[in-house]
Amino acid sequence: MKKPLLLGVLLAVASLAQAQQRTAFEPGNVWPDNHGTHLNAHGAGALYDHGRYYLFGEHKIAGRAGNSAQVGVHCYSSKDLYNWQDEGIALAVAPAGSGSEIEKGCVLERPKVVFNKKTGQYVMWFHLELKGQGYAAARTAVAVSSKATGPYRYVRSYRPGAGQWPLGYQEGWKQPQPGEAALKWWTPEWRTAVAQGLFVRRDFDKGQMARDMTIFVDDDGKAYHVASSEENLTLHLAELTDDYQGFTGKWATIAPAGHNEAPALCKRGGKYYLITSGCTGWAPNAARSFVASFIWGPWQQLGNPATGADADSTYHSQSTYILPVAGKKDAFIFMADRWTPSNPIDGGYIWLPLSFEGDQPRLRWADRWTLGVFDQPKSGAAQ
Ligand code: DGJ
Repeated sequence: MKKPLLLGVLLAVASLAQAQQRTAFEPGNVWPDNHGTHLNAHGAGALYDHGRYYLFGEHKIAGRAGNSAQVGVHCYSSKDLYNWQDEGIALAVAPAGSGSEIEKGCVLERPKVVFNKKTGQYVMWFHLELKGQGYAAARTAVAVSSKATGPYRYVRSYRPGAGQWPLGYQEGWKQPQPGEAALKWWTPEWRTAVAQGLFVRRDFDKGQMARDMTIFVDDDGKAYHVASSEENLTLHLAELTDDYQGFTGKWATIAPAGHNEAPALCKRGGKYYLITSGCTGWAPNAARSFVASFIWGPWQQLGNPATGADADSTYHSQSTYILPVAGKKDAFIFMADRWTPSNPIDGGYIWLPLSFEGDQPRLRWADRWTLGVFDQPKSGAAQ
């Protein structure tokens, strides 16, 4: 090819690529990566590191089999949050039949990656269900890497809190209470029994169940694991060790018998905010919200943060993470999944600006919005 012609072709390709640059969020729409393929990062979390955002999520495949882990955790990176570059599989499942806890066909959900300043390691936590056991194992697991994009090395899984009572647990709650096994679920007496350790006692020796989870790193560098526990009835908040790869044994319950999943946590103005969902499998439901002045509580339950049409289904989605926007004060993105369990690879992403009315976190639907909303006097008013 002659030089001017080649240059022309290159310029045309470059300008086409330019035209394809995304300049806004379009919640619920197909979200192409740099190859033009819909992002494959479900139940995602995000990390901001050295001027780049990294997105980690469940890589799903087509068909019902895609509801279990066939590939691993997919990573993307971005400078502007609109345009994502495919960084490949950060944590790969082990071959089927290998006997690994993360072998192909296990359930590996909601990966969250944090950076540990003391060790210089990137630490990935995720909800793990062992292959062939449905959701019975209820474990949380950890993998590490010296690079944000991986590859991550699987370390181990846990049932947290084994042999440790939660903060505020009373002496009298350490023994089974008369008649507790016969209590009818959802009655006031049963709720009281749950709050007084009905399930905590049951799982005291083997460790507490851990399903939907998130990781939160506080300003002082301490990291916390929040998970749906006790048959998804109660959230457990647990402190991680200094290397973020294990538990210190200090933990607390949040909203006993509240039946919360999909926890996402952020800190604003010195207060902690938690957004969760109810428990309806892959079907969406109304989000919930909580506020606390101290991470160990007490946590006060607030209302559904979603407003307007489809608020009762959180716009047909379920929370997965709250991403603080780098360099902008009190700017948070609510990240959620629109699950499609009959063909999981099609799952959509609902990212919306999270604003606050007093203590109440607020979500408003927007077909299209930009980070500019955070520069407006009242953040959250979508463009
Ligand atoms: C809802 C959870 O939030 C998801 O992560 C997944 O575990 C589904 N339940 C499974 O039904």
